Amino acid sequence: MTVLSLRGISKTFGAVAALTDIELDVDAGEVVAVVGDNGAGKSTLVKILSGVHPPDSGTITFEGREVAITNPSAAQKLGIATVYQDLALCENLNVIQNLFLGHEVRPLRLNEVAMETRSWELLRQLSAKIPSVRVPVAALSGGQRQTVAIARSLLGDPKIIILDEPTAALGVAQTAEVLNLVERLRENGLGVIMISHNMADVKAVADTVAVLRLGRNNGVFKVNDVSTEDIIAAITGATDNVVSRRAAAREGAAAHTPQEGRPS
Ligand SMILES: Nc1ncnc2c1ncn2[C@@H]1O[C@H](COP(=O)(O)OP(=O)(O)O)[C@@H](O)[C@H]1O
Ligand SMILES: [Mg+2]
Repeated sequence: MTVLSLRGISKTFGAVAALTDIELDVDAGEVVAVVGDNGAGKSTLVKILSGVHPPDSGTITFEGREVAITNPSAAQKLGIATVYQDLALCENLNVIQNLFLGHEVRPLRLNEVAMETRSWELLRQLSAKIPSVRVPVAALSGGQRQTVAIARSLLGDPKIIILDEPTAALGVAQTAEVLNLVERLRENGLGVIMISHNMADVKAVADTVAVLRLGRNNGVFKVNDVSTEDIIAAITGATDNVVSRRAAAREGAAAHTPQEGRPS
């Protein structure tokens, strides 16, 4: 079931056409990777969906209704949550405090227990490995912080969650942890839009990859049907670029090795 559809979305900043005639569809339980070079328009797309910038033209359909996302709280009310790259966590506050910052559960007396219970529920939903919800965020690893930021975005019960470069600052083990989280989100039926530069991550976790180039769609692929080289070619706009030529040469060489290689 399609949750979110964009058609003909365009956005200019003065003379710069940041996005031109963009199409994008996201289903429930689908991970859509949005990839593209610097300046391709990824952040602008995220900002349009999260209500930071209005588009100049085009339509956004959410759960079958055409909607206007005029500000961040409108996005939140619809059920579009965004986890920005900087995560916006408070280092000195603990996990519970970060999760509920700005929307603490009332009345005051029930706060602590209710919030702690809800925190563990959210983290369990993500199969998150957080040792304690009472430690300050400063004591957590990068992957754990990403987990807290994602858990916080789930509080509003979103249908779509946008992750902006969720693994960009992480090492191998923590990247794997975050990719597991993305899979939990999909299992929970959310539509996930993942902005990424990392083709390995895209191949590992996305169902669909949408390539932006110079503010335009430059291909939407099912991840299982497309090679990394083809994605890169769509990103760079070169169907016959250095990377794909090298890959083709390697594959050709490998194919010949058993027959023409070393004698047995
Ligand atoms: N607030 C802004 N004012 C002017 N130009 C902008 C603004 N935001 C983005 N742009 C321009 O729009 C284009 C797309 O940028 P962006 O969406 O940030 O791409 P990406 O996130 O893929 O690197 C770029 O040319 C960028 O310079
Ligand atoms: Mg960007």
